[in-house]
Amino acid sequence: MSADSTRLGVWLIGARGSISTCVAYGLAGLRAGLLEPTGIATEREPFRRLGLCAFEDMVLGGHEIATGDLSRSAGELVRHGILSGELVAAASTEAAALDARIRPGVLDVADVGRAELDSRAASLGGVSPRERTERLSEDIRAFREEHRLARVVVVYLASVEPWLEDRPHFADLARFERALDQEGVFPASSLYAYAAFQAGAAFVNFTPNRGSSLNALRQLAREKKLPHCGNDGKTGETLLKTVLAPMFAARALKVLAWQGYNMLGNKDGEALADPLRAESKLRNKDAPLRAILDDDGLHTHVSIDFVPSLHDWKTAWDFVHFEGFLGAKMSLQLTWSGSDSALAAPLVLDLVRWCDLALRTGESGELAHTACYFKAPLAGGTHDFHAQFARLLAYAERNLR
Ligand SMILES: NC(=O)c1ccc[n+]([C@@H]2O[C@H](COP(=O)([O-])OP(=O)(O)OC[C@H]3O[C@@H](n4cnc5c(N)ncnc54)[C@H](O)[C@@H]3O)[C@@H](O)[C@H]2O)c1
Repeated sequence: MSADSTRLGVWLIGARGSISTCVAYGLAGLRAGLLEPTGIATEREPFRRLGLCAFEDMVLGGHEIATGDLSRSAGELVRHGILSGELVAAASTEAAALDARIRPGVLDVADVGRAELDSRAASLGGVSPRERTERLSEDIRAFREEHRLARVVVVYLASVEPWLEDRPHFADLARFERALDQEGVFPASSLYAYAAFQAGAAFVNFTPNRGSSLNALRQLAREKKLPHCGNDGKTGETLLKTVLAPMFAARALKVLAWQGYNMLGNKDGEALADPLRAESKLRNKDAPLRAILDDDGLHTHVSIDFVPSLHDWKTAWDFVHFEGFLGAKMSLQLTWSGSDSALAAPLVLDLVRWCDLALRTGESGELAHTACYFKAPLAGGTHDFHAQFARLLAYAERNLR
C-alpha cells in the first residue's frame, strides 16, 4: 500500500513513561478540541505559518520495556493533578490503540533485574547487539507500512542510563558496525538511534543519554541523509539558567557562585537517585553556565534529590551570588515548581514537527536550529537561550520566504 504524504509516524521510546503518556493524551486532547496548545511554540507566530505537520496527521507507536498499560500511567498522572480525568476518559480509545502498537524494547544495563520488566524485552538481551538493532528497525518499518506513513520520527524518552565512557567504536562508523557483530558494549540509547537511522527515521534524543551524539552515529545520519537532534530537553531549571545567565554577562556583573538544588519525585527522580545515572544529567546542568559566563573556574554545584511525595512536581531552588560595582556582593534566589512532564510534552511535539519539516525539505545531520530545546545541543554553538531562539526564528523566516 502506498504511503499517505501527510501522515507522520511518531515512535516513542519509553512509550509508557510520564512524558510519553502526556504526549499521547495531550495529542488526543488537542485533536478533540479539549485542550489549548499552551506551551507548544510551533503554534505561535511565525512558526504556525510554516505548514508544519497537523496534530491530526500524527500516528503514535513505540518501544517499552516495562509491563502495564498506558491507562495505568495516565491514572498516576491524574492522581497527581497533571492529567484531568475527563481527558483520560475521552482519550481511552486512542490510548488503547497506541498500547496495542507498543513493542518490547531493548534493556540498558541498569534495567536488568528491575521490577515489572516485560519478559520479551528481557529475552532480547540474549541476542547480539546487531540482532537487537535489526529487531528494533523491523518494528519501526512495520509501523510505517501498516499505517501508510510517509515519514517517521523516533523520540527517545526512556530512563536515564548510567554514563558509559568513550570506546573506540563510538567514534567511527566502520568500527561501530564491527562492534555490533562482535558483542561490543553500547548504550541502549545508541542502539535505538542506529536502528532508527537504519529504518530511515529521524531521531530526537530528549534524554541525557548518548543516543545519536556518538561520532559514529553522526556519520551514519549524514550518510543516510537523515536529521537528528538532542540531547536532554531544556524544560525547567536549566531553561531559567540559560535565560538569566546572559543578563549577568550583558551587564558585566561578576557571578561568583551559582548553586542549584532540585527535588523530584517521579520515576525519573527515582532513576536519578542512582549516582551512576545522575552523572549524565548533572554534567548537562552545569556546563551551560560556565559556557555562557565564560568562566571555567566559576563555582557551581547542582544536586538532585528524590522526594517521592512530590511525584511529577519538580522543585528547584537556585542561589546566585554575584558582585557589582564597588565590589558590592548581592544575590538572586529563585524557586521553580513545575510539572516536569507537562513542561516536556509540548517540546516533544515541537521537536517532532521540526524533524518532520527537515525530512520534507531534505535537511540532514544535526539540526542546529533546535538548540533552544536542549541542555546539551548536538549543534548550535551557544547555550544562551535568547541567541538560540533567535536562530530558530531566523530559520523559520528563511523557510517562509
Ligand atoms: N521531564 C523533563 O522535564 C525532562 C527533561 C529532560 C530530560 N528528561 C528525560 O526524559 C526521559 C523520560 O522522562 P519521564 O519523566 O517520562 O521518565 P519515566 O521514568 O516516567 O519514563 C521512562 C520510561 O522509559 C522506559 N524505559 C526504560 N528503559 C528503557 C529502554 N531501554 N527501552 C525502552 N523503554 C525504556 C521505562 O520503563 C519508563 O516507562 C528521562 O530520561 C528524563 O531524564 C525529562
